[in-house]
Amino acid sequence: MLRSRFIVDSGTTLCCLLGDPIAQSPSPGMHNSGFRSINLNFIYLSFRVTEKELKNAIEGLKTLGARGFNVTIPHKETALKYVDRIDSISTDIGAINTVVNDDGELFGVNTDVEGFINPLKDNDIPLKNKKCLILGAGGAARSCIAGLVHEDCTDFVILNRHPESANKMVSYLKQKIDFDVNICMMNRSNLDRNVSDSDLVVNTTPIGMYPHVGISPIPKNLLREDLLVYDIVYKPVKTKLIEYAEMAGAKVIHGYEMLVSQAAGSFSLWTGSKAPMGVMRRTALQILGV
Ligand SMILES: NC(=O)c1ccc[n+]([C@@H]2O[C@H](COP(=O)([O-])OP(=O)(O)OC[C@H]3O[C@@H](n4cnc5c(N)ncnc54)[C@H](OP(=O)(O)O)[C@@H]3O)[C@@H](O)[C@H]2O)c1
Repeated sequence: MLRSRFIVDSGTTLCCLLGDPIAQSPSPGMHNSGFRSINLNFIYLSFRVTEKELKNAIEGLKTLGARGFNVTIPHKETALKYVDRIDSISTDIGAINTVVNDDGELFGVNTDVEGFINPLKDNDIPLKNKKCLILGAGGAARSCIAGLVHEDCTDFVILNRHPESANKMVSYLKQKIDFDVNICMMNRSNLDRNVSDSDLVVNTTPIGMYPHVGISPIPKNLLREDLLVYDIVYKPVKTKLIEYAEMAGAKVIHGYEMLVSQAAGSFSLWTGSKAPMGVMRRTALQILGV
């Protein structure tokens, strides 16, 4: 019987999101529309969980037999402590965003990496030996760099508001991953110097999203046609950076593509089914107001 209406019953399988804050997350909408579209008796809920509550929340989900969950800010690193095993990319990065409950054994995975890389592959962007400029050095930057190194990008510049936190992040990654990197303060002169020298620019800072809407981390005049600009900010869908890049004729990748792609990775791990990307993308865009 097609589950044309959303029926929750004693056989419904639970997946969820743990984070703080979670109110604006498009994940419940994306996953629930995906479950419904391929007739799966699953439900995805979101729970606001503080750092202090994380351990108990995870134990509770395991006891209740939830199939899995996503962890988001601020739990992507801490959650490693509460799972039984992790995949190799999560070991490299030191963070997970997805947990699969295999009969009581919790398996931690990081689908942010494939979530970041898949839109580049889907757009047939050649990555081997490309010069990458990464703006920001937080959790998302780790996943982007790990993914790009995996695709044979070896030459990186990181510009960050506080170069010392970028140094810390790079020291961690370099224990596991080999790449060349220069780290500098994110300011106008370093942008001038490095944007012109790059093939691919990735914004992993929150500049462009609320409360920084309408601001581009890169001045308009530095953008050019033969640059690839990937802004992982997904709300608004068209950030100022994307707008400027399009005006310059640059190739762009929007943050919602990563959002949908990382969700698709989690979806497949929990359900064993191929994620209905089209449905999940349409729902995400609807939630994001497009
Ligand atoms: N599309 C997706 O699926 C996806 C997935 C994950 C994250 N994201 C987006 O990526 C962004 C970063 O997430 P995250 O998890 O990496 O966060 P995070 O760990 O908090 O890192 C934020 C980074 O941005 C820098 N930053 C913060 N505010 C800034 C400002 N006002 N000006 C300049 N730099 C600033 C920080 O610099 P300091 O080190 O100097 O503090 C840090 O390097 C968020 O907008 C998030 O929504 C998107």
